Amino acid sequence: LANGLAETPAMGWNSWNHFWGNINEDIIKAAADALVSSGLAKLGYIYVNIDDCWGEQDRDEKGNLQARNTTFPSGIKALADYVHGKGLKLGIYSSAGYYTCSKQMPGSLGYEDQDAKTFASWGVDYLKYDNCYNDGSKPMDRYPVMTRALMNTGRPIYYSLCEWGDMHPALWGDKVGNSWRTTGDIEDTWDSMISRADENEAFAKYARPGGWNDPDMLEVGNGGMTKDEYIVHFSIWAISKAPLLLGCDVRNMTDDTLEIVGNKEVIAVNQDPLGIQAKKVRWEGDQEVKLLVWAAPLSGYRIALLLVNRGPWRYAVTAKWEDIGIPPNSVVEARDLWEHKTLTKQFVGNLSAMVGSHACKMYILKPIS
Ligand code: GLA
Repeated sequence: LANGLAETPAMGWNSWNHFWGNINEDIIKAAADALVSSGLAKLGYIYVNIDDCWGEQDRDEKGNLQARNTTFPSGIKALADYVHGKGLKLGIYSSAGYYTCSKQMPGSLGYEDQDAKTFASWGVDYLKYDNCYNDGSKPMDRYPVMTRALMNTGRPIYYSLCEWGDMHPALWGDKVGNSWRTTGDIEDTWDSMISRADENEAFAKYARPGGWNDPDMLEVGNGGMTKDEYIVHFSIWAISKAPLLLGCDVRNMTDDTLEIVGNKEVIAVNQDPLGIQAKKVRWEGDQEVKLLVWAAPLSGYRIALLLVNRGPWRYAVTAKWEDIGIPPNSVVEARDLWEHKTLTKQFVGNLSAMVGSHACKMYILKPIS
């Protein structure tokens, strides 16, 4: 969407994957504090996004949405002020339906202008807009109504389409929003994460600055996967130019979690100005063994490369120059983004590495001759 936002994929935090509906203003403020004190805000994680269950069940007598008095007594405007005071941005959530997905609060269908004005008056910077309890009409008819409503407020508000891939939002989303979900909800398991990654990859060609495919938010740090699996999760999201929205309890991150989501070199791949989403360029094996090579061009004639082993044992995974668009005789320098080392060996024709089970290697390749 040409609203001047999302030139690179959004980065921040969202309350849903860890807290579900059990949120309150103290949690949201503490999350903002934690983004700053952990150093993650400096790395680009600037959106603090409130998900479902922030509002009262009913609108007020003028039809306005209202913050839930028991959990957000100071109101959303005060929260936005607090978050802005930290140099961060505030996101909120609604649905293109009669209720949000929790059914605990009203959706914005039929109230688009009024709600967009409310959000803008509160100082909201980001809207995640779900698809639950709608009237059965097509998402491509309902979502643009909110696009116009947001644009009419005059406030730049990032617009995240949470249409879970039902009507292939990648095919129409770029004129409507800044990102669009390509999948159903992620769960904190390897299989769920990998299947989201695969589904999202099919739409790679639709991602570009201003509008991104969204395979759902990160689960890194929520405890359901191993460290290596979370590294694969973060690496695939980064190379896929997915929004990097943390979904863990950022107030209590382990060193491992912080090391993963704070990897500057991997973040730089995600935020590269070319904005080209990686594709799977090569895979080997059947149901049991799946060795995958993901690649995407980066600015400066470089290439982001990810070797993933989905199998149960350690294997060599090989990326061939012909698969990733490097001339066959090029000599290539490789930077290992998880080891933080430029390899002394230079590569011709291919790069092969041993990769552990449910683990990956991630590189930036630079042809030097
Ligand atoms: C849907 C969305 C989730 C979350 C919940 C909230 O399931 O896909 O990301 O926002 O609604 O109820």
